[in-house]
Amino acid sequence: STREKYGPLIGAIDEGTSSTRFLVFASKTAEVLTYHQKEVPHICPHEGWFEQDPLVILQAVLETINVTCDNLKKLNLDFEDIVAVGITNQRETTVLWDKTTGKPLYNALVWMDMRTSNTVDEVLQYGKRDQYFLQYACGLPVSTYFSALKIKWMMDNVPEVKQAMKSGNCLFGNIDTWIIWNLTGGTKGGLHITDCTNASRTMLMNIETLKWDAQLCRIFDIPMNVLPEIRSCSEIYGYIADGLKLAGVPISGILGDQQAALVGQLCFNIGQAKSTYGTGCFILYNTGTSMVHSSHGLLTTVGYKLGPNQPTVYALEGSVAIAGISIRWLRDNLKIIQEAADSAELAQNVSESGEVVFVPAFSGLYAPYWRKDARSVICGLTEETKPGHLIKAALEGVCYQVRDVLEAMSLDCGIPLKKVLVDGGMTVNDYLMQMQADYTGIPVVRPTMLETTALGAAIAAGSAKGVEVWDPTKIQPTPNDVFSPSISIDVRDMKYTRWKMGISRSLGWAIE
Ligand code: G3P
Repeated sequence: STREKYGPLIGAIDEGTSSTRFLVFASKTAEVLTYHQKEVPHICPHEGWFEQDPLVILQAVLETINVTCDNLKKLNLDFEDIVAVGITNQRETTVLWDKTTGKPLYNALVWMDMRTSNTVDEVLQYGKRDQYFLQYACGLPVSTYFSALKIKWMMDNVPEVKQAMKSGNCLFGNIDTWIIWNLTGGTKGGLHITDCTNASRTMLMNIETLKWDAQLCRIFDIPMNVLPEIRSCSEIYGYIADGLKLAGVPISGILGDQQAALVGQLCFNIGQAKSTYGTGCFILYNTGTSMVHSSHGLLTTVGYKLGPNQPTVYALEGSVAIAGISIRWLRDNLKIIQEAADSAELAQNVSESGEVVFVPAFSGLYAPYWRKDARSVICGLTEETKPGHLIKAALEGVCYQVRDVLEAMSLDCGIPLKKVLVDGGMTVNDYLMQMQADYTGIPVVRPTMLETTALGAAIAAGSAKGVEVWDPTKIQPTPNDVFSPSISIDVRDMKYTRWKMGISRSLGWAIE
């Protein structure tokens, strides 16, 4: 029967910056049987502000679960065959809500939101601190990117938040926490938990002990009673509440989306790395059970901890804020392209790029620069420049940012990477993948199963104690496409020098 063919099913909620999906995996074959996706709108009330409505996110999650369960019927499967659900999510995005009403106190501040720029300055001004002064405690530089700054901004600027904090009714969560609180208890409230990968992006968790750190909380003035309990990435946390689709099914996996991709790419060994091309682009390098503190602008983050008694595996991360979004910007703002999918064709059909360089610094520059004052620049325009040149320069910008990160990784780790595993929406673009191999000088390996983020969450959920339909070490990788470097070192380095010239202009743009 179908049930025998696929084995028990595992569900994965993937709540990303641009859309929410619910996917169902067959435990026997690790293939996606069906899924449903819904876009979640961005709210941009001011330049550099980037919000989403937590209730809209929640509705999208519930809707994708419902539609996917209906889809299962067409495959002669029943949603009752789903034995566990995992969650993976855009990280850092911050929700504050009132635990007595279940209502959000403000829109979610999305990770790339820049409004906390002054909050960063305030924190650093005090005692003339350096951006990296908390690196040994939490693995991160002080940046607009992380949750602590976003919580602090809302405490300082939103009266409802101030009030709820005072009365002890305020709860904080990243998107995983917000979804689980609602799925396990409805508006009456369920579990208030997160996992150590998400917690490692708040700036409030001690990266060594995996516990909330009183001193870090004091630095940002954040009361510890708003914080969720930190759990491992794979254990039965609780069950979906009555009245909801999948009621009674255990939720047994949580991973931030980039860490989920690391697991989904089966990067379980030291020295393995993956690069995910979505809204942004995030490269994670497994450093095993030891932490590497970067001296070259990378983050130290929890890679995964697949069970309460399992070891904590760390990763070095290079976060690039702007990848897919620069193509969307060309489409929506400049309107020089109709569909993001057309980018490869338009870029290929122009003469040599005319040396146009596009540094997309819409959220400042993240790794390895960490400069919130960086500004986007497009340089090298001539009267021959056509839309295709800009599109090509945008794609090149993604590849160069990845090279920036890989250079930093090899400086921190002492050994250059031999290959990089890739996934995410943009990787269907063969032209981009070849360019990536050319510009980094190492092979780019793309699995045929591109749903690695969701697979990572499903692996965590399916291997939790009490579910145990999967053993992560026994999952076989799917076949790959490999893109090998095809340009000379001289050309590669000459082009990279141009990029660095663009970077220096981007960093030098803001007037002090
Ligand atoms: O840190 C932000 C990251 O988790 C967002 O991922 O895939 O939504 O761009 P994505």
